[in-house]
Amino acid sequence: MNRADSTLQLISPHGGLLKDLYLTAEEAAAEKIRAQEMTSWDLTPRQICDIELLLNGAFSPLEGFLGRADYDRCVKEMRLADGTLWPIPITLDVSEAFAAGLSEGEEIALRDQEGVLIATMAVEDVWTPDKAAEARGVFGSEDEAHPGVRYLFNVAGPTYVGGRLKGVESPIHYDFRHLRQSPRELREMFQSRGWRKIVAFQTRNPMHRAHQELTFQAARQAEANLLINPVVGMTKPGDVDHYTRVRCYEHVLKRYPEQTTALSLLPLAMRMAGPREAVWHAIIRRNYGCTHFIVGRDHAGPGKDSKGEDFYGPYDAQDLMKAHEDELAIEMVPFRMMVYVEDRAQYVPVDETKEDESVLNISGTEFRRRLQEGLDIPDWFSYPEVVAELRKTHPPRHRQGVVLFFTGLSGAGKSTIANALMVKMMEMGGRRVTLLDGDHVRKNLSSELGFSREHRDLNILRIGYVASEIAKNGGIAICAPIAPYSSTRRMVRDMVEAVGGFVEVHVATSLEVCESRDRKGLYAKARAGVIKEFTGISDPYEVPENAEIVIDTGNISPDEAANQLLVKLESLGYIR
Ligand code: ADX
Repeated sequence: MNRADSTLQLISPHGGLLKDLYLTAEEAAAEKIRAQEMTSWDLTPRQICDIELLLNGAFSPLEGFLGRADYDRCVKEMRLADGTLWPIPITLDVSEAFAAGLSEGEEIALRDQEGVLIATMAVEDVWTPDKAAEARGVFGSEDEAHPGVRYLFNVAGPTYVGGRLKGVESPIHYDFRHLRQSPRELREMFQSRGWRKIVAFQTRNPMHRAHQELTFQAARQAEANLLINPVVGMTKPGDVDHYTRVRCYEHVLKRYPEQTTALSLLPLAMRMAGPREAVWHAIIRRNYGCTHFIVGRDHAGPGKDSKGEDFYGPYDAQDLMKAHEDELAIEMVPFRMMVYVEDRAQYVPVDETKEDESVLNISGTEFRRRLQEGLDIPDWFSYPEVVAELRKTHPPRHRQGVVLFFTGLSGAGKSTIANALMVKMMEMGGRRVTLLDGDHVRKNLSSELGFSREHRDLNILRIGYVASEIAKNGGIAICAPIAPYSSTRRMVRDMVEAVGGFVEVHVATSLEVCESRDRKGLYAKARAGVIKEFTGISDPYEVPENAEIVIDTGNISPDEAANQLLVKLESLGYIR
């Protein structure tokens, strides 16, 4: 029998009904044999996060990836088909080819990237979602500056498959095993410690003094114990990696009174959906047995949209939580923005400061700038041991890995300038530099690829992958492909910024100049129709809007261009 059928009855204060979708050991062994006959789907990193929380009940009351009726109502009304409040669609997105081979009622094997069987799923629904409607419903926007929207449009597969799960094996983690608890384990821990009220703190950032003060004050207000519950699945692209963050949390934990506070990691894949995400976070924490949940300023905020405006108001998340408080079975502890009042040497919510008091604040951007430039970070902002930990993995820019990503039309001068730049950097010494030139990559890495959109994207993503590995290890990668599509360049940027610096260099030589030079005779062939899908002639080039550096070679020599770049890189702090 599937244990999902015998829902675990652990009643409040430790969280209400908890699903457990895992089979027993014998059933799992039998399921592994049955699964050999099933079609397999290799779960993506995000699906691995989702399935872990589905199987262990963190997403109770869900019993699998959403079917169509649940999905439709969730997108439109934030509810499952039966009316239960559920704000984020948890869907299994697959390729069209995979979906085409499925029939209703068929069972499929869901495996991790190594092929380990995690679960089987009985297919109930297969459908093509209206992703634009999903983006508007869930994120309130179709703007790809929103990381959730960007993922939905560019990474998530085009077809969804819904159905109940039978869990065989939990996704495996080798890191911080002592800090990973399932909802059941955490409830049991609370019970055994005699904790009846627990306030949970969500975070995807290193904890600084403001965060700690927030948690102190929340615990005091709610007269509760505290659970620091950081997300270690997927967070916003560009965030500090979770290894570094967890080492920081461990330092901060020592600053709490003993026995009052626990640290447990949550392998959640965030969507950065602001208000809806806050409600989702609260439901998850209730499932882990918490009774209170902190929602501060700009909870799960996605940053600015492409016009530089905020996607959500700073307290929209609190408003949505309040509107649903009767249904949530977990209480919100709301906070206004915490600021440091110098005269009192204390953090206080901004609405509790007096008019004549001077308040201090270091924004996330300013903090990253100081790390990047190796500048002072005061003790009132963050504990010295936390800053030291961050400095280890975030050295100043001139010691950081970086990708210089050239993009531009064929014949714009990318390779020539890139090569000149590499040579000049070698002459300066001190850094390791790799050139991933467009033609060389096509010869060595992507020899089987053509120039269809799909192949072009694949080629760029391969370059991005190699470049990010180089940057991760502290090197400089200079890439010089055409890279005509902005969404693909954006994906490369996200991939790289997770591990180092990314500098987009738009070699903006005009089509007329490129064509008149026609160094390789390609434009003539493209005009004659001999070469198809030629960028600028018969295929689009989407001009970068936010390139760090723009160079037009129309009136400067490669040597001058390379020098211009060196000066820019110096001013950005990448060389000194
Ligand atoms: S989040 O994406 O997980 O929300 P972050 O880790 O920065 O980002 O925030 C964790 C929680 O702390 C959220 O509830 C957020 O609203 C709150 N928070 C972070 N910084 C502040 C601050 N200075 N003042 C008030 N609340 C804050």
